[in-house]
Amino acid sequence: MPAVLPAQQKEQMLSAARAAFRNAHAPYSKFRVGSTILTERGAQYSGCNVENASYGLTICAERNAIFAAVAAEGSNMKIKAVAVATEKDGPCAPCGACRQVIYEFGPDALVLFRGESGTEEMPIARLLPEGFRL
Ligand code: THU
Repeated sequence: MPAVLPAQQKEQMLSAARAAFRNAHAPYSKFRVGSTILTERGAQYSGCNVENASYGLTICAERNAIFAAVAAEGSNMKIKAVAVATEKDGPCAPCGACRQVIYEFGPDALVLFRGESGTEEMPIARLLPEGFRL
């Protein structure tokens, strides 16, 4: 069953994700992204994208937030919801790699992001059908 969140908490998470993009290191793309995740324990962790002169080393905001949560809560950390925000006025759904990482820790996670026509919320299973599991 996909996670259910009160509207106020969704707004608060999107606002935390907006605060997070301010610390992004994105001198190459100039596309600053922030993400906040809510764990089943009720804690929140934020991350921003961190780029590198060797472009392929770039890490997205979502994965940085998730890895901070694992570092804090350990391998059993479970994601309830993920919020993504950018400073640009346009859509930003999580990339394919981040969808798979969200799925690893939250197969029922709710994902909040800016879609083609405003804020969208979708269960990860809809963004990533048939996610990979070992
Ligand atoms: N980026 C994210 O941080 N999250 C996404 O979901 C999509 C892309 C970052 C990576 C790179 O630093 C910049 O956005 C442009 O691709």
